Amino acid sequence: MKRISSGMRPTGTLHIGHLHGVLKNWIKLTADIECFFFSADWHALTSDYADTSQVRRFTREMIVDWISAGLDPEKCTIFVQSEVKEHAELYLLLGMVTPLPWLLKNPSFKDQQEQLREKEMNTFGFLGYPVLQAADILIYRANYVPVGEDQQAHVELSRDIAKRFNRFYNDVFPLPEARLTEVPKVPGTDGRKMSKSYGNAIFMMDPPDTVKQKVSTMLTDPARMRRTDAGNPDICPVFDLHKIYSDDETKQWVRAGCTTAGIGCLECKRKIITAIQEELAPIQERRRELEAHPARVDEIIAAGNNHAREEARITMERIREKVNVG
Ligand code: TRP
Ligand code: SF4
Repeated sequence: MKRISSGMRPTGTLHIGHLHGVLKNWIKLTADIECFFFSADWHALTSDYADTSQVRRFTREMIVDWISAGLDPEKCTIFVQSEVKEHAELYLLLGMVTPLPWLLKNPSFKDQQEQLREKEMNTFGFLGYPVLQAADILIYRANYVPVGEDQQAHVELSRDIAKRFNRFYNDVFPLPEARLTEVPKVPGTDGRKMSKSYGNAIFMMDPPDTVKQKVSTMLTDPARMRRTDAGNPDICPVFDLHKIYSDDETKQWVRAGCTTAGIGCLECKRKIITAIQEELAPIQERRRELEAHPARVDEIIAAGNNHAREEARITMERIREKVNVG
């Protein structure tokens, strides 16, 4: 049976960008592939090492959101990276064979240093980010890694590290491959990519009123200043949401109505408001249910940690033998 390993950095409660960009895909994959999904809490420390006060809470919030969204702990392994110490041991061994230039030329190393200027990011931990990620993948002998385009370079680096390790120690790892998912564009309320840090997100836990308020004030085609101005759906972020939520007939209705000023933006948005509210209702119901039974969440995570540890232990035993350490 093929295997998948994928992680998400714990950023707290999730938004509908995560839901459509990642979670729906994860849920689909659990049907026919053995899946390991984890909170990459050590990875969160590469940028947030100075204040770690939220990490545990964010991990839990995030995992509760995964399950609420429909990720079934009976069908996959849900766990916390830092609870499986073998990741750290493998990270150390992979670090021995990883040439420094591979890490220095990693595009996200430079980009992020530019973007997060206020944080000191010229650290050993941050440089080693992809090596830790390689350990996350290889420790489960994963064949595929479902990720967005932004992570493709990291998965390729993992593959290169695995190749090099295999060359020295005689084929221990299957070579992992990125499984790029077709991720729909999920714009935030200001038209930019939805992101918690932009303050433009619609959260999975937003109550119906909040959804209504956020979508009602969402940016539209700026040329449509008045009700009587015609608009262009192809440059309107609301229409990107119709691509996710609406059937062909509704999209036709929007296109015709928008370009002729036959419908108003609020009318157009109302369909999205209802669709998001209906999508979130059962998710929020499941979340309330889980929050009422915190011990159940603890059990799910503990069982996932145990299963992941067992698999990681098997890999590490083999590797220690090949490398003649430990
Ligand atoms: N780097 C990934 C991100 O920022 C998170 C991650 C950590 C990951 N370890 C991984 C993803 C292993 C896939 C496989 O989104
Ligand atoms: Fe955007 Fe809809 Fe308004 Fe057209 S009618 S500008 S698609 S919100």
